[in-house]
This record gives sequence, C-alpha cells and structure tokens, in this order.
Amino acid sequence: MTNFISIKDAIQQGKGEVSLRGWIYRERGSSAFKFIVLRDATNIIQCVIDKNVLGEEKFRTADKLKVEASLTVTGDLHEEKRAPTGFEVHVKEFTVVGPSENFPITKDQSPEFLLDNRHLWLRSRKMAAILKVRHTVLQAFREFYITQGFYEMPPPILQPTMCEGGSTLFEVKYYSDKMYLSQSWQLYGEAAIYALEKLICLSPCFRAEKSKTSRHLSEFIMAEMEAAWYQLPELLDSIEGCILHIIEKVIKDNEEELKLLGQNVEKLKKIQAPLPRITYTDALQILKEQEHMDVAWGKDLRTIEEDKLMNHFAKPVIITHYPKEIMAFYKPKDPQQPNTALCVDVIAPEGYGEIVGGSQRSMDVEEMQKDLTNQGEDPKKYDWYFDLRRYGGVPHSGYGLGIERVVAWLCKLDNIKDAIPFPRTMLRKFP
Ligand code: 4AD
Ligand code: MG
Repeated sequence: MTNFISIKDAIQQGKGEVSLRGWIYRERGSSAFKFIVLRDATNIIQCVIDKNVLGEEKFRTADKLKVEASLTVTGDLHEEKRAPTGFEVHVKEFTVVGPSENFPITKDQSPEFLLDNRHLWLRSRKMAAILKVRHTVLQAFREFYITQGFYEMPPPILQPTMCEGGSTLFEVKYYSDKMYLSQSWQLYGEAAIYALEKLICLSPCFRAEKSKTSRHLSEFIMAEMEAAWYQLPELLDSIEGCILHIIEKVIKDNEEELKLLGQNVEKLKKIQAPLPRITYTDALQILKEQEHMDVAWGKDLRTIEEDKLMNHFAKPVIITHYPKEIMAFYKPKDPQQPNTALCVDVIAPEGYGEIVGGSQRSMDVEEMQKDLTNQGEDPKKYDWYFDLRRYGGVPHSGYGLGIERVVAWLCKLDNIKDAIPFPRTMLRKFP
C-alpha cells in the first residue's frame, strides 16, 4: 500500500520520494510541462508533470485536468524558490481519483456568490484557515475549563421557555404543542451545578435576529460556563483567563492562518493580563468626555456607542454593573448599588462588538417572578428554575461567549458570516 503523507509533512521532509493526495488548486501547462499546485488540508505544493517522463498518453490525461480534480501523485521533492511554498514535486506517477467539471468559483467573485456556493467555497484557503482558527477557539475554551475540573454537559435544544427575551425566539411545532429552539444553555447549566458544581457547554444557540448586521447570526455556537459558589469577582477572573487562553492558543497553533488572513499577530501578542475593567457608568463617562456622546443613564449601549468606546482600548474591555432595569430577569441587583446588576459584558476591540455576556445569578424568586410578569411571561413556566433556589440554593455565576464573534475578531473578518461554515441569517439559509 502506498504511504501517503500530508503536504505539510512533505515540505518538512524537504527531499526524497513522496506520495501525496489532494485537489488541484491551480493548473497551467505548456506543450511539454503541466504545472499543478496540489492542495490538501495542510498546505499547497507545486507538482510538475513532464511529458518526457510520463509519456505522451499520460501527459494528455494530465493536460485535461481541471481545477479541483482530486488525484494522487508520487514523485521526487526538490527545493524550488519560485514555487508557491518553496518546493516542487517532480511527478513520476499520478492517478486521477475524481475528475472535475469547470469549477464555478473563479477569481473575484462577489460575497453573495461565494455564500451561494459556500459548500464549494469552504475549500478556499481563506475558509480553511478560518475553520482551523475556529477549531482552536473551541478547543481552547474546553481545555481552559476541563483542566480546572469542569464537566461538559450539552443542553436540550428544544426548550419550553425563553432565556434571553421572547422577541428572538424560534418557535418549533412540538407534537400538538410548541417549543422553542435554545437561546442559551444557561438555565439548564444552573440546574446542573447542584450536581456537578462546575460546568461548561459548547452548543448551537438560535436567535431570530431581525437586524441585518455584520455581527448577528440566527444560529451560532455559544460557549457557556456556570459555576457554583462563584460571585461576580471570580466570574470576571475566569472570563479574563479564558479569553487570554484562547488568544494564546490561537497565536501558538494558527500563526500561519492568521497571517494568511491578514491579521497582525504581533498586535494580538500584546493582549496580556490584565484586561481593563470598567463599569457601565464609567463607559458613559468615557463616551461623554472623549467622544462627546451623551447617553442617558439607564439606556443600553448600542453598537455605535460600543464602537466609539472601543476607540480608547486595544484590548477587550470588561464592563460590569449595567442598569438592572434593562437586564435579563436572572441578573441580580447589586446590593451596594441596587439600580445596577451584578453582570458583565466583554467588548472586543476594532468594532467586533460584544463577545461575552454573563452575570451572577439572582436568588430572589419574587423579583424574578415580577420581572417575568412585566415581560408578558408566565412565571409558572419557570417554576422548575425557581426550585433551584428552594432546595439549598447557593451563589453562582456564569457566562456565554459567542464563538463566531471571537473568530471574526481574531481572524479580522469583515462579516460574522465567514466565521461559521454554513451561516444562517434572516436573509441566508442556503446551502
Ligand atoms: O449576551 P447573551 O445573550 O447571553 C446569554 O445568552 C447568557 N444566557 C449566557 C450565559 O450567561 N450563560 O449571549 C452571549 C454571547 C454574546 O455576548 C455574543 O457574543 C453571542 O453570545 N451572541 C451572538 N453571536 C452571534 N449572533 C447572535 N445573534 C448572537 N447573540 C449573542
Ligand atoms: Mg448580551
């Protein structure tokens, strides 16, 4: 059996005979030579097919090969400065595994065309690089918590109630009843801390976002954590540690991908502890003094205000103590300043927006019931959630990190749709 190696390993090896398999990334030919740039999951490499070596008939086969045809090649490796990755394979033998028709994606296609053809565009070096970074971000989140003894517990995707407000719920027909697609794992994570204390989850979340922005998806992966005994200060430390761990691992594992995507790795390396911590009230003051923007205390920060605020920071900023009034029902009052909540958002630099939302969790059942009623919810449906306060309730906290927001930021993407392989938004559901 042929011993195939990856293109990355071949380049590392640098000389001798190698057998490779992959897809044609580029091809050009003359009457005597065919140049193929072969691509696999790891890299690209130039392969030269010489008529004098392969013979007339085999050369004719090679000459007909089109971009994206799959093949296996065996040949000798040589250093070649002019080749795209500095090496070249002098082909002795090749087999076409799957021929290709005219590949529809050629140079300079519009973003919409590339989205219509995402199933094919995934093969591009850009998308492959993003997918690798995304993989690292997911693994880094897991690694950060699993090494601290957290348990991973996926959520029910079908849920009977909302967690983050009724207006973005996706309703699903459920036998003769209805359910909703999960907006968040949180309420179930809170139940599970009474069994396992420290938990994480990485799961699809669904939001019927009616806004067309470059930051919102209808389906995205949220990485969440919930921990018994944690109060706001421990939560903030945990969020900071996790974000820094993600950045560090992406720099370590994906330097090449970041460069290919045009990201400045040195700039990311400068993001070190501590991350700035400010309150919502501090944020309003910065906006007023430095940006001449007057935001009335009690109004949520909009995208434009977050972006202006981030003109003053090169690192993600941890913002706490938003007005209690505008916060989700489960975010508790700060006893020191009862008009604010023990909550946190983290805003990424350079206009990538909110990457984390979290809080300490309220233990005040009556207040939560009142809040839910005010929102038009039936508090009875949340009675199971209030049980968690009735049987040995303990202080606890948690947060959710938007994986695609982080990927978009670290990969310097123009649109969050490129941070997920098959994006779903109000206007995009295919392929
Ligand atoms: O701030 P959010 O809504 O918080 C929660 O859902 C909490 N229940 C999480 C928790 O405490 N366990 O969402 C958390 C993060 C946001 O900061 C953002 O990064 C991301 O999820 N996010 C989205 N990402 C892409 N598209 C959307 N429509 C998003 N909505 C939220
Ligand atoms: Mg939020």
